[in-house]
Amino acid sequence: PYFEELRGFRDLEMKLKQTFDLERVIITPGDSDTDPWVKDELGKRAVSFLQSQLNIKQTVAVTGGTSMAAVAKMMAPTDLGKGSMFVPARGGLGERVENQANTICAEMANKMKGDYRLLYVPDPLSEETYHSIIEEPGVKETLHIIKQADIVMHGIGDAFTMAKRRKAETNVLENLKSGKAISEAFGYYFDQNGQIVHKVRTVGMQLEDLSHIKTVVAIAGGNSKAKAIESYFRQGKSNVLITDEGAAKALIKDL
Ligand code: F6P
Repeated sequence: PYFEELRGFRDLEMKLKQTFDLERVIITPGDSDTDPWVKDELGKRAVSFLQSQLNIKQTVAVTGGTSMAAVAKMMAPTDLGKGSMFVPARGGLGERVENQANTICAEMANKMKGDYRLLYVPDPLSEETYHSIIEEPGVKETLHIIKQADIVMHGIGDAFTMAKRRKAETNVLENLKSGKAISEAFGYYFDQNGQIVHKVRTVGMQLEDLSHIKTVVAIAGGNSKAKAIESYFRQGKSNVLITDEGAAKALIKDL
């Protein structure tokens, strides 16, 4: 039965790969909605994938969230990241400190013996602060490195779960409701066709930057995230998906 399961996943992986035109899909058994250890497994798979891709002197940009925190947590100390640079993809997106991109980025760099730069910017930023903060030398340097990322690893969330987690203001919630937002990634909210409904104003990687980056890896699992994953991938901004059985089976059912 174990081998059957593996073969089943191979078919599922292939189907998702074709549907969303991806280079690689990795599915781990179980559903992280119901079994928290599955999220750790997701993290482990993401660590192996990253280590298989990492060459010397590369730049890795990461986002926040609990799935990305699991990636950092599951990483065993190694020196594979020597000479590499880790950066947060975008400025503070309102997560708890343990789930913030800065924290995850520093933990990954330390475990892999790489270097890191952090971004200390509030979120959301006012138009005025935005223009002055990008001129700050410390911020400018990190932003410059972010734009040169070789590998990006990021989470995908359900739009309203994320809006609540970030304590979004009433007008933003209304905007998301009227725009029928389904998913969120990088501070962008998308509808079911992958169209942008709302964008959090902050510095760092912008969606259009992703098209110049060779490896963009989404880490997202759980049956409840299937609709969000589908919505995000409708516009094909990432080329690798690391997910779990719960999300993968729901995704296929949905198509
Ligand atoms: O806030 C950072 C972020 O990566 C979001 O862009 C994404 O929607 C969310 O975290 C995913 O969080 P989790 O992995 O906890 O579901």
